[in-house]
Amino acid sequence: MSATTTGKPRVVADGPLAEAIEQLMGDRLELLPWDVAVAGSDTPVDGIYTYGHEAVTGAMMDGLPGLKIISNYGVGVDHINLADAQERGIPVGNTPDVLNGATADMAMTLLLAAARRLIEGDRFSRSPEFTHYDPGYMLGREAHSTVMGIVGLGRIGWQIARRALGFDMKVLYHNRNERTDLPADVDVSYVDFESLLKQSDYVVLSLPLSAVTEKLIGANELQLMKSTAILVNVARGGVVDTDALTSALQQGEIYAAGLDVTDPEPLPRDHPLLKLDNVTIAPHLGSATEQTRQRMAEISVENLWAGLDGKPLLHRVA
Ligand code: 8YV
Repeated sequence: MSATTTGKPRVVADGPLAEAIEQLMGDRLELLPWDVAVAGSDTPVDGIYTYGHEAVTGAMMDGLPGLKIISNYGVGVDHINLADAQERGIPVGNTPDVLNGATADMAMTLLLAAARRLIEGDRFSRSPEFTHYDPGYMLGREAHSTVMGIVGLGRIGWQIARRALGFDMKVLYHNRNERTDLPADVDVSYVDFESLLKQSDYVVLSLPLSAVTEKLIGANELQLMKSTAILVNVARGGVVDTDALTSALQQGEIYAAGLDVTDPEPLPRDHPLLKLDNVTIAPHLGSATEQTRQRMAEISVENLWAGLDGKPLLHRVA
């Protein structure tokens, strides 16, 4: 660790950080505001800690002399230029696995809420208009015994598949390559992207955002989906073309969407998507449980300390 005036390693963070993280960091390091990362520093800065999704570029790394580690709170690292970090020999840590279950639960929550019109129903139940029960109102779509198509059967996607099988769903998936490591007794089928879009009642996105996956779901893909289909996104907003989705939902080209993420995030407050009843939106809550966030805090701080000490990280992504 580099000795500074305080004798403590200096770390820039895009805080304010959750209390649990600050507690784990204790007073063993000097936390610097994000402005330092943006402006650069003449004195050594040992680490970068990303909490929200602030962009970390090669230029930023170059502006922080002595940088030893970039530790990210979360699994998705699309905001960090991994190639630039690799080129400079700066390890990047993230927090995979611990959030698989919580994020898969969120995918099912959004799926069910969108299919069964839960938020619309909640609003109606509280409104003065709800004066008598009518079995004919607010019919939704069935979830059980339908077809789910998962785009991105990685660690989170696999947990979503397991939940879908519990709902008696037929599970399709599409990845760049077919997985050969899946248990033989689990009934999930690899299909090409177009077949997945055409055959699924629920298209669930759980893939990383990259130059290749940006706007993967656009007007053409939405047109290929069934008019009764529901799109669920627990990945990144940028995987979907927001304008195309808004238009498809307005025109009834698809039935509904359940979104944990949007592009941009948040959407402008007057965005037309926010006016639609057939979209259910959460403010990026995929991993937001007390238990999961505590584990994410622990792993990200462990990664940070390992990097500052020049030791192998618990989870290294680059
Ligand atoms: C985190 C996420 O909440 O892990 C990820 O990739 O998107 C979320 O689960 C986020 O990274 C923390 O800002």
